[in-house]
Amino acid sequence: MRIAVTGGAGFIGSHTAAALAEAGHYPIVIDDFRNSKPFIIDRLKTLCKGKLSFHEADCNDRDKMAGIFEKEQPEGIIHFAAYKAVGESVRHPLMYYRNNVGSLLTLLELQKHYGIEHFVFSSSCTVYGVPDELPVTESSPVKKAQSPYGFTKQVGEQILFDLQSASTPMRSVILRYFNPIGAHSSALIGELPLGEPENLVPYITQTAAGIRKELTIFGQDYETPDGTAIRDYIHVMDLAEAHVRAIAWLAESEEKASAEVFNLGAGRGSSVKEVVATFEEVSGVKLNYRYGPRRPGDVPAIYANADKARKVLGWAVQRTLSDALRDAWHWQQQIHGLPV
Ligand code: WQD
Repeated sequence: MRIAVTGGAGFIGSHTAAALAEAGHYPIVIDDFRNSKPFIIDRLKTLCKGKLSFHEADCNDRDKMAGIFEKEQPEGIIHFAAYKAVGESVRHPLMYYRNNVGSLLTLLELQKHYGIEHFVFSSSCTVYGVPDELPVTESSPVKKAQSPYGFTKQVGEQILFDLQSASTPMRSVILRYFNPIGAHSSALIGELPLGEPENLVPYITQTAAGIRKELTIFGQDYETPDGTAIRDYIHVMDLAEAHVRAIAWLAESEEKASAEVFNLGAGRGSSVKEVVATFEEVSGVKLNYRYGPRRPGDVPAIYANADKARKVLGWAVQRTLSDALRDAWHWQQQIHGLPV
């Protein structure tokens, strides 16, 4: 199928475009490089053996997006394009609401106009806030968002829930990511934080590469076995392959209206200290780190019950935490010295 991938030059978007091509689909990548670099597209063309289109566009630009849809006739949309830094969303909420909610509304109006069948929405485990019990399932309560970023994901999900019963009902899949890490095995694409990384694993690899002086572990007094916070880290290629399964599931489904939610996690929790120790093991690099205060907005622990994706989508992670950290380190070494 011809699948539009918004934000397709980004971390998860680029890996999903590669997985789509690998599965015989034709990715139509749309990105305005506000959070990525053009060289990723050149490398994606290599990975997709030239079987992809690219358009530089802002998803909020209705006319430009309409022109792309006219020309490319996508049968589905996977919508990644959004701002995703929790701390930044607290400092610049309007920017987050305009971009994250605005782009979704523009795409949904165009999807209806062009009769595009399948819609996959990139959501996040952030919607669960501080969970009452672990692991979280898709029916775990969605809590008050801890940040404007988290709220934009909750609003996006609610829009899709409401569209099930609209006059022209639509079918969508909502994928709640846990913590995506790692890189494509070719090391041609990977996570490319612009500036100082917000997320743990790129901070680790940049510290190991000597780009950062040391990692600060945010908090060692959580109610967890080793005192550091727990997350569900999932290899970005496992996550990408889940999107291919979601598109297939939508194509096979007879339902006229749906907004089906799936947790995409490995189904296991790892503490920050465990991630550091595993990284040192797979890389052979002793990491410089110190302990600092907790980071505002962080939850002590969250990890997924991923049974529904296994049962319904026929998907489960194939790669381990070590695989992801090895691939992340390989990617970091490959881009070392690039002006990113
Ligand atoms: C993981 C753990 C930090 C950096 C966020 C978004 C989520 C998704 C992924 C978009 C936490 C600790 C981190 C550092 C540290 N984004 N940490 N030192 O916050 O779980 O999730 O990114 O979809 O929606 O909320 O990921 O990698 O920032 O943090 O100790 O320098 O690592 O405190 O416990 P997070 P993260």
